[in-house]
Amino acid sequence: MAAFFSSLNRTILAGIVIVLVMIGVAGTFNSFGQMGYWQFFMRWLHILSGVMWIGLLWYFNFVQTPSMPKIPDEQKPAIGKVIAPTALFWFRWGAMSTLITGALLAWMNGYLLQALSLQKPFTPIGVGAWLAIVMWFNVWFIIWPNQKKALGIVTVTPEEKAAAAKLAGMTSRINTMLSIPMLYCMAAQSHGGF
Ligand code: HEM
Repeated sequence: MAAFFSSLNRTILAGIVIVLVMIGVAGTFNSFGQMGYWQFFMRWLHILSGVMWIGLLWYFNFVQTPSMPKIPDEQKPAIGKVIAPTALFWFRWGAMSTLITGALLAWMNGYLLQALSLQKPFTPIGVGAWLAIVMWFNVWFIIWPNQKKALGIVTVTPEEKAAAAKLAGMTSRINTMLSIPMLYCMAAQSHGGF
């Protein structure tokens, strides 16, 4: 048992097998031919990706950043050199996967352009999508390039390093703020939130 769960790959595979068993028990294999099922499936992939992204965003803001001043200087490299780069890998690819699955979902639902142009019945998801697109832009074009400087993945002067850390931290805070209305809008579209 312990040996099984010591492997992340086996653990993820086991989660997928549980879903397949659920589908089998519910007898939903026969809905595979229907578009509605694949819209639902894309929604599931979208939520999984979103949890990976926003989970890590909240980890940075709720856990890692506030803990840094309490960590002795000689132990700080464990965070900067080991944990943060790995967390940032899943963070930025989680953001990418959320954007792609979200756009595909809106397209499969038949309202991608209507939502992005904020047309009437699609305003909640349109506003949510735009907030999330701004957040995705921040991740890929502000947070990640500046974190690379802050963590020493690319070499810069100490002044540039400090400025990069400040900008990455501020942008991460802005994304945390935006995540709150963004998630309200995401869930509002189909569940009467507006
Ligand atoms: C990056 C751009 C994004 C786009 C284009 C997008 C698009 C969509 C679409 C089209 C839906 C279906 C709405 C409906 O008709 O019910 C949806 C739902 C949802 N999205 Fe996003 N989304 C994005 C980002 C995110 C992010 C960052 C999260 C974070 C967790 C997220 C979480 C959700 C959730 C929880 C739902 C609700 C599912 C439900 O109520 O059944 N989305 N999104």
